[in-house]
Amino acid sequence: MTDCLKITADNIAAAAGVLTNGGLVAFPTETVYGLGANACDGDAVAAIFAAKQRPSFNPLISHVATSDMAFDLGRKTPIAAALAAAFWPGPLTLILHRADNCPIARLTSAGLDKIALRVPSHAGARDLLTAFGGAIAAPSANPSGRLSPSRAEHVMALMDGQIDMVLDGGPCESGLESTIVDCTGEQAVLLRPGGVTRAALSAALLSAGLDDTIIHSAPLNDGEAPISPGQLSSHYAPKNALRLNTQSPHDNEIFIGFGPSYPPNEDGYTLSPSGNLREAAARLFDILHNADNTGGDRGIAIAPIPIEGLGEAINDRLRRAAAPR
Ligand code: TXA
Ligand code: MG
Repeated sequence: MTDCLKITADNIAAAAGVLTNGGLVAFPTETVYGLGANACDGDAVAAIFAAKQRPSFNPLISHVATSDMAFDLGRKTPIAAALAAAFWPGPLTLILHRADNCPIARLTSAGLDKIALRVPSHAGARDLLTAFGGAIAAPSANPSGRLSPSRAEHVMALMDGQIDMVLDGGPCESGLESTIVDCTGEQAVLLRPGGVTRAALSAALLSAGLDDTIIHSAPLNDGEAPISPGQLSSHYAPKNALRLNTQSPHDNEIFIGFGPSYPPNEDGYTLSPSGNLREAAARLFDILHNADNTGGDRGIAIAPIPIEGLGEAINDRLRRAAAPR
């Protein structure tokens, strides 16, 4: 059962409680309704992917209440500072390098070292973020391949029974998703056009005394479309070789198991001892990082993961990580 509740102080507090307990809450922003979970809780974020039935793990935007919070999580750059000052709160998402000790779950950023951050302007979204006190990971609140919802009724029609709560704040102002800009380089890179125009971005950079060039680049994964090979390189891939679908690691490999029938060897890992796909999804990127960093130059061998449910996205990600490069 999904509760659909009008935005009131009590319901905001209840929604913040659901998020704290690892649940899913759809909430309005000025662009579209987001499907929110605690961005620092990998298990809760895995539930977003399960509810959306996404066949792959797209990196998600983390929403926060203030620019200061955003720059605690992501490393500030001059471009980011200028754009945040001009457009936050509002329909702009900035891509930044993770700050040291950034608590955002690796699944939220699909294993990337860069994270997406946004300070929305919608009053209900801001009240929820303030009440919750942390970062809320939220893709648009639609199942994979469907239109982004701009009303609570759309969310209920699409997601009833899949999520804990919908906060109904009426129709969204724009229905157009946020503009996404990578701010980690010497020049701003526009990954997705949206509510803030290219001309407005340029003007803000110019008036901050910065290079106002806006490079246009295809997003990592435009909504639900398949990732093209050229974009794969920006995804996390282990530095050592990755061998999939095996139950018998070689001597020079670290083993990553799944389920009770695949116990990890001495210095191996397991994605989920009980064979739980949600737990496996929540731990996937951490374990890949750890296996890569502790293994010296040893390769990684990984057990077969069933392809049903979240297993489809896990297998998709593993195939990408293992692809020749
Ligand atoms: O307006 C919006 O942005 C809405 C509301 C809910 O905030 N959210 C939204 O989320 O549109 P979603 O998941 O449908 O699209 C987010 C896109 C991803 O497809 C990906 O291309 C990009 O953001 N993205 C997220 N993290 C990224 C990263 N670390 N590097 C590059 N792109 C990233
Ligand atoms: Mg979307």
